[in-house]
Amino acid sequence: MIVHNDCLILHHLENLSMNVAITGASSGIGKALAVTFAKNGHAVLAIARREERLLALCQKLKGEYGASAHFLALDITGPGAPQALFQEAVRVFGKVHGLVNCAGMSPYQEFRDLSYSHLCQILDLNIRSVTELSYLFMAHMLSHGEPSHVVNVSSVGGYAPLPRFSVYTGSKHYVRAFTNLLHYEYRGTNIQVSGLYPGGALTEFPGLAGQQIKTFAQKTMMTPERVAEMAYPAILKGKRVIIPGTINQLAVLIGKLLPFPLAIRIMESIYDRSIEPIPPTYPS
Ligand SMILES: NC(=O)c1ccc[n+]([C@@H]2O[C@H](COP(=O)([O-])OP(=O)(O)OC[C@H]3O[C@@H](n4cnc5c(N)ncnc54)[C@H](OP(=O)(O)O)[C@@H]3O)[C@@H](O)[C@H]2O)c1
Repeated sequence: MIVHNDCLILHHLENLSMNVAITGASSGIGKALAVTFAKNGHAVLAIARREERLLALCQKLKGEYGASAHFLALDITGPGAPQALFQEAVRVFGKVHGLVNCAGMSPYQEFRDLSYSHLCQILDLNIRSVTELSYLFMAHMLSHGEPSHVVNVSSVGGYAPLPRFSVYTGSKHYVRAFTNLLHYEYRGTNIQVSGLYPGGALTEFPGLAGQQIKTFAQKTMMTPERVAEMAYPAILKGKRVIIPGTINQLAVLIGKLLPFPLAIRIMESIYDRSIEPIPPTYPS
């Protein structure tokens, strides 16, 4: 009887350890989520373009947490990239139990000022890669049948209108609607689907986007580590909507409750006080 119980406990513990693929893991929220998953005993495949960053992250995850850590340096918007990523995850792990679609980008510019290349990058990264990767990984997760999680990183912009971010806000609305419907369609299966809705976070994103955040406003922003710590238990519970932090919950309420003309005026006034626009510096 005791042996039987021990076996049950062991089986339970084994189930708790997942193999998780995380995009956008070289920086910011994706990197912090990779650290959080690794700290909690999960195996991680970290994906982004900057190889040296990913190598350093994996060394840290192995050295500090004894984690199983792998990386793939890949532009996930390239032709065939989602399939290549999926195949690498299956090659490395066999079974994949977690997909975190975190990579995202957008210049902080009005529509008329966006370069055509940046416009395509937003659509390809924030919408197409999230959708294709979900499609590939969820079919695999359904077929192996073990408890699995998909996490799509949207933004408070998935609810509230963000000035100078028309395509970005649209892309994050897409991620929200898509994620909510996946959560619904996969209820009762082995896959739990969550949307993560951060607000201003102290990552590379604002600088790359072309936002110089004023000092007082930086104090209201969350660290990516805090976002990840708050998100992790909610992901394991399979929460459909994860909004870390009170300020972000207020921004979501502005988007949900107020009519657009009022919501955009409030958001614009907050942005104008907090942000100095500077040229975006995304690698072209
Ligand atoms: N920071 C915020 O204020 C904030 C607020 C709300 C929502 N979010 C969302 O949170 C997510 C993470 O943002 P973050 O703040 O952590 O930004 P970040 O620090 O700029 O990180 C973005 C990550 O995406 C990767 N990436 C970008 N383009 C890629 C591509 N073509 N192929 C593969 N990887 C690519 C970057 O790595 P490489 O450059 O090495 O490829 C990096 O690891 C995004 O979806 C963003 O929209 C951020």
